[in-house]
Amino acid sequence: MNLKEMVGIEAAGYVKDGMVVGLGTGSTAYYMIEELGRRVKEENLSIIGVPTSYASKKQAEALGIPVRTIDEVEAVDLTIDGADEISSDNHGIKGGGAALLFEKIVATYSKKVLWIVDESKMVDTLGAFPLPVEVIPYGSQQVLRLFEKQGYRPVLRLDEDGTPVKTDCHNYIIDLHLDTIADPEALAVTLDSTVGVVEHGLFLNMVHTIIIGKSNGPAVNHVRP
Ligand code: 5RP
Repeated sequence: MNLKEMVGIEAAGYVKDGMVVGLGTGSTAYYMIEELGRRVKEENLSIIGVPTSYASKKQAEALGIPVRTIDEVEAVDLTIDGADEISSDNHGIKGGGAALLFEKIVATYSKKVLWIVDESKMVDTLGAFPLPVEVIPYGSQQVLRLFEKQGYRPVLRLDEDGTPVKTDCHNYIIDLHLDTIADPEALAVTLDSTVGVVEHGLFLNMVHTIIIGKSNGPAVNHVRP
């Protein structure tokens, strides 16, 4: 079993009967959704899934997990999602899979957020992983130029065919090659106030529990109650 599968299965164990569960996106969340599907089928687990992407929605539906949108539920009890980087002070970068907008909305309206990662994602300071920023296509070249002037080393994310990657909301992703993010809070404020930016991949003060996949087993970090 690989480390992503290990933490995916471990995290699915946190889901209890009757819960509304935010279903993350990516190769680690994939294993968690598979395990929830198994529990629904074999253990009669009764849950509602709130997917954070069309890919996760498709997967959950194929497994027989009932799904709703974030607007069709009162609140989400627990969201389980992957991450691209987690700093020593438990901030995260997400959006490597271009699903950061729905991921942030679902996490924001969740009572608890659980991240599942293999140990390679744990870092001292965020920034080695390029920070994804979701932008509206209209004016995106202007935003790109602005980011260049600000020294953010922006790169418009492209598909294999050379066209811009489109998110589930038909927006573009600009990845910022920052190397080190000394002050994530300040950067978040700047990005939040940039016209044309829909959302960015800095997930600050959001996570309650982190499960880290290590070769000797999963390690659980309780960040906040
Ligand atoms: C998608 C994400 C993913 O959670 C993140 O990219 C981690 O993915 P993986 O589990 O495949 O490493 O934020 O937008």
